[in-house]
Amino acid sequence: MASPSFFFFHALLMVAALATTASSQHLSPTFYDKICPKALPIIKKVVEDAMQKERRMGASLLRLHFHDCFVNGCDGSILLDDTVNIDSEKKANANINSARGFTVVDRIKSVVDKACGGPVVSCADILAVAARDSVVALGGPTWKVQLGRRDSTTASRTDANKDLPSPTMDLPQLIQNFNKHGLNSRDLVALSGGHTLGFAKCSSFKNRTYNETNINTNFAMSLRKSCPVSGGDNNLSPLDQTPARFDIRYFQDLVGKKGLLHSDQVLFNGGRGSTDGIVKRYSLDARAFSYDFAKSMVKMGNIKPLTGNKGQIRKNCRRVNSEKLKMF
Ligand code: HEM
Ligand SMILES: *[C@@H]1O[C@H](CO)[C@@H](O)[C@H](O)[C@H]1NC(C)=O
Ligand SMILES: *[C@@H]1O[C@H](CO)[C@@H](O)[C@H](O)[C@H]1NC(C)=O
Repeated sequence: MASPSFFFFHALLMVAALATTASSQHLSPTFYDKICPKALPIIKKVVEDAMQKERRMGASLLRLHFHDCFVNGCDGSILLDDTVNIDSEKKANANINSARGFTVVDRIKSVVDKACGGPVVSCADILAVAARDSVVALGGPTWKVQLGRRDSTTASRTDANKDLPSPTMDLPQLIQNFNKHGLNSRDLVALSGGHTLGFAKCSSFKNRTYNETNINTNFAMSLRKSCPVSGGDNNLSPLDQTPARFDIRYFQDLVGKKGLLHSDQVLFNGGRGSTDGIVKRYSLDARAFSYDFAKSMVKMGNIKPLTGNKGQIRKNCRRVNSEKLKMF
């Protein structure tokens, strides 16, 4: 006769089976520990080499992960080149003539595939790890990157144009945009802190420089020198005063009305805005910012990953594996 412990044993087995199924659907920081333990140290090395050549590359890689995750999840879709079947996200408004770092991703992919003996690490995971390694190399916090994302077989320029935030957005639009991705206004402020790194083109902030009032006068004057009313659209300005250091200068700049983009400055509106308190706090407390940034990066990295038997591990981050077959 079956004893109570017999039933208990079977219940345990079922829980274990369910847990195994579930774990294949979820990301894990140890995903590559057994299948390719060299993967993460290699990505770090290639990222650091690239940043040695050009310090800005860290910023560019961080932005790539963000722009990947905000368009149908963190699935490497931003890396796909234009083909008859792929409407490249690289040509979307927010990315064209702006998103960069693709050749570094290519290099990481080829080195990591060689070390792993084949296509083991997804392009989506490469972006997530490269973003973390870039932040660390520039003096920011570290975090355990969740891994096991697979790569998409599609891209959507239409969705990229719809889902990536624009620098002309006001606070309610930014909050709504982040909410649609499961991120709250605290995540919005923490992640906007990514603008402690890197540069923007004159065309991204020209209107603010000439037409807005919520801007420090001397700051506006100095921006106008490299960003004339007409022309100079590709001239770069730093997103905060220390663009190669992951620090709280971005938030201090916002409090001083020295945010570069309209979408930056709307996060702090002279003490009256709904996110002003968080901006003020981060401007005074580097640890609070670092902690929240790391937490929000993990949250962003969890947006709609492809797991289990969905998607694929691309051999070349720019192309879907099956595309060659379709030509025949
Ligand atoms: C809140 C909404 C956001 C808007 C409207 C926005 C918009 C922009 C714009 C317009 C640029 C300059 C592009 C150019 O002129 O070429 C830029 C650059 C950048 N963004 Fe954002 N961004 C947002 C959030 C984020 C987030 C969440 C991150 C990362 C966590 C991020 C990281 C960066 C970085 C690092 C750069 C500099 C890239 C480089 O120098 O290559 N941004 N962003
Ligand atoms: C300033 O605003 C006016 C009216 O919206 C616009 O026509 C003009 O192009 C803007 N100036 C710049 C430099 O963007
Ligand atoms: C330019 O700035 C003015 C003043 O803030 C604003 O009314 C207008 O909508 C802005 N134009 C664009 C294209 O962002």
